[in-house]
Amino acid sequence: MIIKNIKLHNFRNYTDCSVQLAENINVFIGDNAQGKTNFLESVAFISTTRSFRTNDDKAMINNLKEKSAVIVTIIDNDSKLKLTGQLFKEGKRLLIQSQAVKKSSEFIGILNAVVFSPDDLELFNGAPRLRRRMCDLEIGKINKEYMGYLNDYQKTLKERNNFLKSSSNDDIYLDVITQQLIEYQIPIIKYRRKFIEFMNGVITKRYQEIAVSDEEIFVEYLSPIDGEEDIREALKQRYLKSTVSDKNQRQTQVGIHKDDLKFYLNGNGIGDFASQGQKRMLVLALKVVLIDYIYKQCKKYPVLLLDDVLSELDITRRRSLFALIPKEVQTIITTTDIKDIQSFLPKGSRIFKINDGMIIENKEMI
Ligand SMILES: Nc1ncnc2c1ncn2[C@@H]1O[C@H](COP(=O)(O)OP(=O)(O)OP(=O)(O)O)[C@@H](O)[C@H]1O
Ligand SMILES: [Mg+2]
Repeated sequence: MIIKNIKLHNFRNYTDCSVQLAENINVFIGDNAQGKTNFLESVAFISTTRSFRTNDDKAMINNLKEKSAVIVTIIDNDSKLKLTGQLFKEGKRLLIQSQAVKKSSEFIGILNAVVFSPDDLELFNGAPRLRRRMCDLEIGKINKEYMGYLNDYQKTLKERNNFLKSSSNDDIYLDVITQQLIEYQIPIIKYRRKFIEFMNGVITKRYQEIAVSDEEIFVEYLSPIDGEEDIREALKQRYLKSTVSDKNQRQTQVGIHKDDLKFYLNGNGIGDFASQGQKRMLVLALKVVLIDYIYKQCKKYPVLLLDDVLSELDITRRRSLFALIPKEVQTIITTTDIKDIQSFLPKGSRIFKINDGMIIENKEMI
């Protein structure tokens, strides 16, 4: 799948702009605060119907305007498809060709994108919520039923917590919600286990290629149960054990809402062991693993969006990163300095300059 064209209308600091992309690498150069991240955000918005840096959709509408639109034309299996995201103060509307969709799930993932943003570095030191969100986003993008289970789980969890807060003694009712909670999390645990198993199968190789090292990476899945085969039975035991404490604490302490991932480099936890550069390379390895994962599941390559990825990589690692991205992957990369990248660009790449919300192709730099 390839993006042909992106049109922005009143999106962040863009008024009107239209960009025709190359099929391989597209570089967007600009000084700070010119609109580089905003441009990538518009593509991510069409991919996931959300921004990767805010939960407030309205923030993406230009400050001085009432509504905004992003129109992306993609080529998928030789056919052209127009995807439109319209943003209003009261909400958003998503259109495929010119037909509004009823549910966002019909729209999510048609344009499949893997995004690297500098904020991703928080993945290792930030709250477990960030690592769960990464899993949910990536698994959910290609497995629609996963999001369904997750929604059902969240609703039931809320119900169980409300019940625990109510001080009711109706143990039969508590038992019923607990059983429901167990049933919803069984498929979620299975999906998460498979996803992490896939990561562990390839992440060391990808990391070693980028980092030019022989260090081993391991991702540990911290879930309410250990590797037990009979998930239902194992969960039942955990809930039995925690019932008294749940009642005292008035909330559910066991379940996939507490899941976490732990990353290791040669057996040491990444968070307080790895250097800045190693963390950055591991996040990048993870992004390449996600490309592998999407390709394995959908037989299609996603678009790769790399925001300001080069600044902390030395020349050797920059080269290895470019060597690693499969040739078929359309990439949009932002940088403040073309020198960071010029010598790695394959034939057919395009370079654009971003200046105060305006984008102009620069053919001389190629
Ligand atoms: N809703 C909005 N309306 C108008 N302008 C906005 C809006 N949101 C952000 N901006 C402006 O967009 C600019 C920031 O753009 P962006 O984050 O894309 O910068 P950047 O080129 O990625 O910079 P850096 O290199 O510092 O990361 C800022 O000047 C900001 O004020
Ligand atoms: Mg930026």
